Amino acid sequence: MRIIVTGGAGYIGSHTVLQLLEHGHDVAVYDNLSNSSPVSLERVQELAGREVRTTWGDLLDVEALDDFFDGFEADAVVHFAGLKAVGESTKIPHQYYVNNVVGTLNLLAAMKKHSMESLVFSSSATVYDPQNPLPLLEDMRRGATNPYGRTKQQIEEILEDVAASDSSWRIAVLRYFNPVGAHESGRIGEDPVGPPNNLVPFVSQVAVGVRPSVRVFGDDYDTPDGTGVRDYIHVVDLAAGHLAALEYLESHSGLFTWNLGTGRGTSVLEVIRAFAEAAGKPVPYEIVERRPGDVAVSLADPSKALRELGWKAVRPFELMCADHWRWQESNPQGYPST
Ligand code: UD1
Repeated sequence: MRIIVTGGAGYIGSHTVLQLLEHGHDVAVYDNLSNSSPVSLERVQELAGREVRTTWGDLLDVEALDDFFDGFEADAVVHFAGLKAVGESTKIPHQYYVNNVVGTLNLLAAMKKHSMESLVFSSSATVYDPQNPLPLLEDMRRGATNPYGRTKQQIEEILEDVAASDSSWRIAVLRYFNPVGAHESGRIGEDPVGPPNNLVPFVSQVAVGVRPSVRVFGDDYDTPDGTGVRDYIHVVDLAAGHLAALEYLESHSGLFTWNLGTGRGTSVLEVIRAFAEAAGKPVPYEIVERRPGDVAVSLADPSKALRELGWKAVRPFELMCADHWRWQESNPQGYPST
């Protein structure tokens, strides 16, 4: 297939582009590099031994987007591009809505214009209402609690309306749980700009000595050890979910939603211990106040993806830590600046 990938230079995007190339697909990336490095795709090309077409452009630049679509006739689009920091989204909500929601609307218009109606969209477990029972199933209530999450929720709603209005659309909405880890080569991985907001990249930077200690946000939750429990998923398994979804869309029209998680929970203290083990060094931490907006537990029921896509996350948490650490240790400052 010929696949367009927006945000393909980013963390999940680069791992997905690599797998697409490895499976023989031709890939064109459209990325504004606002939170990614072009080096990721140089390395993806080295690893795959194949080339990726890259265009450094913004989804808000309608003319550039149109030119890009004119230049690459694709069978499907995988849409990762978007802003994704919860804290930041509460400070600059307007930018989040414009970037994520308007960016997606522009993408949909460009797709329709070029008669390309197959789309895989990066959504998030954050769209679920925190009042839902656990584990989370795809048909449970949405109720995002911050502007970032609401951009994902609104895009899901837009995609549902679009798919309902016109049966030529084929849309997969993938709700990611907590992606961690890196490709086994250690050549590509997560490279956050500034202090990481998420736990595993933070722990990883402490282990490598870039930061002094991890702040554990609360140890009085109703969980076995009192710290927050999440469903961490290896980014390589997550990337494989996109290929499974693309394949499914080849023979199904309409809109489909799938959780991509493992169904297994790991607490903050378990993360710190497992990571210290993988890195072979202690990871200092201190217990601090809860982080506002956090839930005690988030856990996927991933059985729908297994049933319908034949996809399942197979990499255990220890491997997520070992792979994340290999990337961090060989790239302590992330990608080199260009
Ligand atoms: C966060 C976002 C979520 C987003 C996801 C992307 C919030 C409230 N939610 O999810 O919308 O989709 O990232 O991966 O930001 N923790 C610490 N110390 C840290 C960082 C985190 O103790 O320095 C704890 C948190 O309290 C939580 C767990 O680690 O219990 C995981 O946190 P994080 O990696 O930020 O993921 P989420 O909160 O699940």
